[in-house]
Amino acid sequence: MQTHESDSASTNSLERKSLEQKSLEQKSLEHQSLDQTPGVFRVLVGVTGSVAALKLPVLVSELLQLSGVDVRVVTTEHAKHFYSAADVPVRIYSDSDEWEMWTRRSDPVLHIELRRWAQLFVIAPLDANTLAKISNGICDNLLTCVVRAWDTSRPLLFCPAMNTAMWSHPVTAEHVSRLRAFGYREIPCISKKLVCGDEGKGAMAEVSTIVSVIKQYLHLQEPDHPRTHDSDAHMTHMTHTTHSTHTGHRTHPESTVKQDQDG
Ligand SMILES: Cc1cc2nc3c(=O)[nH]c(=O)nc-3n(C[C@H](O)[C@H](O)[C@H](O)COP(=O)(O)O)c2cc1C
Repeated sequence: MQTHESDSASTNSLERKSLEQKSLEQKSLEHQSLDQTPGVFRVLVGVTGSVAALKLPVLVSELLQLSGVDVRVVTTEHAKHFYSAADVPVRIYSDSDEWEMWTRRSDPVLHIELRRWAQLFVIAPLDANTLAKISNGICDNLLTCVVRAWDTSRPLLFCPAMNTAMWSHPVTAEHVSRLRAFGYREIPCISKKLVCGDEGKGAMAEVSTIVSVIKQYLHLQEPDHPRTHDSDAHMTHMTHTTHSTHTGHRTHPESTVKQDQDG
């Protein structure tokens, strides 16, 4: 009887060890997917719960068409509602990955790994909720933790997207100007007829605009020496940031009025 019990205990122990091994291998694989291929510019796309998250597959595809660019996505839970992961040909990280990856001291902390990995972070779309959180330093999910831990010598671009009424609320201008003061670069929203039927400012910048801004950073830096050149690119683009008027409305040379029916 005792022998049987001890056999069973050692089988359990073996099973536990095998499960732990599998878990470590899984984590290692996850970790490897954040490899840093020399000569490749690493872009992290953040996506939040705006209807403009519909455009995530197009944005990622267009970025992947740029030569020497690697892309990963970090998503909020609400953003998942607007796209299908099957349409996004790169690894998408979300809150569950952060918590599943860490069980012991030696495990990687995903938001820190992502901030180490990424040479540029673009949040497209940035919805009103996450905008408010970031501007106040709140970090209650994977995406906002990456922002909170971000190395501000590297470019962080944000593309606001929200209903016109939300955009016109005075708190929005306060939040946006805070982000600019942190050194982040705004890719301004545009005016168009929104999915909800309202017309006016608040739609996310066109994907082509976002990609062309990111391209400017590629041209400005050598991928093998990201830190120095990121800083240069960042400083250069700080001189191109947009300005708030006293009414809180923002202007930008790329702003246009569009009539198409997307977010
Ligand atoms: C259909 C739908 C569309 C939405 N579109 C927007 C939007 O364009 N901009 C925005 O700021 N919020 C929008 N919201 C509200 C956000 O999804 C909501 O504030 C959510 O809490 C955001 O969570 P997150 O910032 O964690 O992604 C929308 C909600 C729904 C149901």
